[in-house]
Amino acid sequence: MSSSSRNTKLLNWVDEMVVLCQPDSVVWCDGTDAEWDAMWELMLNSGTAIKLNEQKRPNSYLVRSIPADVARVEERTFICSEKEQDAGPTNNWAEPAEMHQTLNGLFSGCMKGRTLYVIPFSMGPIGSDIAQIGVELTDSPYVVTNMHIMARVGQAVLDVLGSEGDFVPCLHSVGVPLTSGEKDAPWPCNPDNRYIVHYPETREIWSFGSGYGGNALLGKKCFALRIASSMARDEGWLAEHMLILKLTNPEGEVQYIAGAFPSACGKTNLAMLTPTIPGWKVETIGDDICWMKFGEDGQLYAINPEAGFFGVAPGTSMESNANAMLSMQENTIFTNVALTDDGDVWWEGMTEQPPANLTDWKGNDWVADTLAAHPNSRFTAHAAQCPVIADEWNDPKGVPISAILMGGRRASIVPLVTEARDWNHGTFFGTIIASEMTAAAFGEIGKLRRDPMAMLPFCGYNMADYWGHWLKMGEKENAKMPKIYYVNWFRKNEAGKFIWPGFGENSRVLKWIFERCNGTADAVETAIGNMPATNGIDFSSLDLSEQDSVNLMHVDTDGWLAELAGIEDYYTTFGDHLPAELTAQVNELRSRLLASKQ
Ligand code: OXD
Ligand code: MN
Repeated sequence: MSSSSRNTKLLNWVDEMVVLCQPDSVVWCDGTDAEWDAMWELMLNSGTAIKLNEQKRPNSYLVRSIPADVARVEERTFICSEKEQDAGPTNNWAEPAEMHQTLNGLFSGCMKGRTLYVIPFSMGPIGSDIAQIGVELTDSPYVVTNMHIMARVGQAVLDVLGSEGDFVPCLHSVGVPLTSGEKDAPWPCNPDNRYIVHYPETREIWSFGSGYGGNALLGKKCFALRIASSMARDEGWLAEHMLILKLTNPEGEVQYIAGAFPSACGKTNLAMLTPTIPGWKVETIGDDICWMKFGEDGQLYAINPEAGFFGVAPGTSMESNANAMLSMQENTIFTNVALTDDGDVWWEGMTEQPPANLTDWKGNDWVADTLAAHPNSRFTAHAAQCPVIADEWNDPKGVPISAILMGGRRASIVPLVTEARDWNHGTFFGTIIASEMTAAAFGEIGKLRRDPMAMLPFCGYNMADYWGHWLKMGEKENAKMPKIYYVNWFRKNEAGKFIWPGFGENSRVLKWIFERCNGTADAVETAIGNMPATNGIDFSSLDLSEQDSVNLMHVDTDGWLAELAGIEDYYTTFGDHLPAELTAQVNELRSRLLASKQ
């Protein structure tokens, strides 16, 4: 298909990139089913994909990457702002002109023997005031099919772009040219030369050498978080690593809640949870990314910029997340999971017992006690296929956010739920999110990875300036900011067991938050924030000892005082970019904690 765009910036950029990358041909993608089928035909022929059993998993495919290309590569991800201090101490920085030179060298001729696909995409409902347009150029048919699911792709996007509209240019290559007659690898990539590069000032993304997930589907982490966070700072909105859910009470009243949680803390599960408390309903708007802009009424309105889920497969089951399982029944791409004898998929945790025979994610006969699926294996499924997708998930206006949850994985100190006193205090909560590494995985119990607002790998500029932006948002005239809650599903008892059952039982905490937002639940003020009054959260039918219930809500004054020292050390690493308000928050919290000991 040739271009039907009249956008000069787009046409010129595509021409320029074609000269640089020298593909054999150029295809403008239209996002249709025919294009989906054609891409799979190519990938079946090159050995990249296996078609799954049409009866069991209609229109679905399994793809295997190579072991060297299975995840995001944070150490190869760069924020190339003009000034190093604008990238800040938590990002890899490289001088933009130098990086351009390196990348021009790498991209030169890198698509020889391949097709360059032009993918116009919208992050967010097409034409929404909150949505943004991007165009990805890629030489990977796997990226084309994933983008079909994860974003809105095709002519309608070009129509909105028109002849003058602006877009974020996103260039991607697997980074291995094909000389004539050479057979392509099933998973072409260049793991020794990976660069995931962002230029926040000029709003461009260049990604080389990886074909996987967040490195290659450039609408997701690269655009919707790193570049968008920097656009949001300039334009007065928020681009966040948050789920969005719709909560309905038995009376039919609705509140929308967003939530920032680092990886492996259950964002997808929370976004799709089945409440255990009668009469309450959770529906999904998004499971990973949330863009929020002020409406005229001063509230923050949120959209999910994505159109699909790129979820981690292992651990997902009909018990842990039935709605995710039902979302991937058809039209789904599975990457690096195991294959069953009857042409279906399996991963650790899907069922208690594995099937008798499996082909593992590397394509070998599976041997018991080895991993059948890679721990970061994924399903790519249409959001619209989720049984509990909210009707308004696609609403261009977005949904008004009443509450924002901030959470990490903490065995101690952080109670089940604490309400921030106000927006600034809630921003402070966001800056102190941290997750404990588990002993099994890292051998260092209690070692904290600080992950402010769950944005550590995704903030496109100086993290402390980003905190400053959050604070500034709350100062806008007429702003009706959401309430903020610090939650922790992972507190452990003396025996090292999780106290809180989590999953559907989290609805009990959501209920209290809902009732705080509509003014019907009480709270008690503590040194660390507002907490549920006695019986504010109904623990009655849970298998919790008296002591467990106390521990879940316990304010560990000495633990918090010790925590503050760690927070101050962390803040110091940001030098004079640290907003004074955050130092004030630490000092006020310390005073309140000390006063509570008197
Ligand atoms: C993701 C991530 O894939 O946060 O969503 O890594
Ligand atoms: Mn994520």
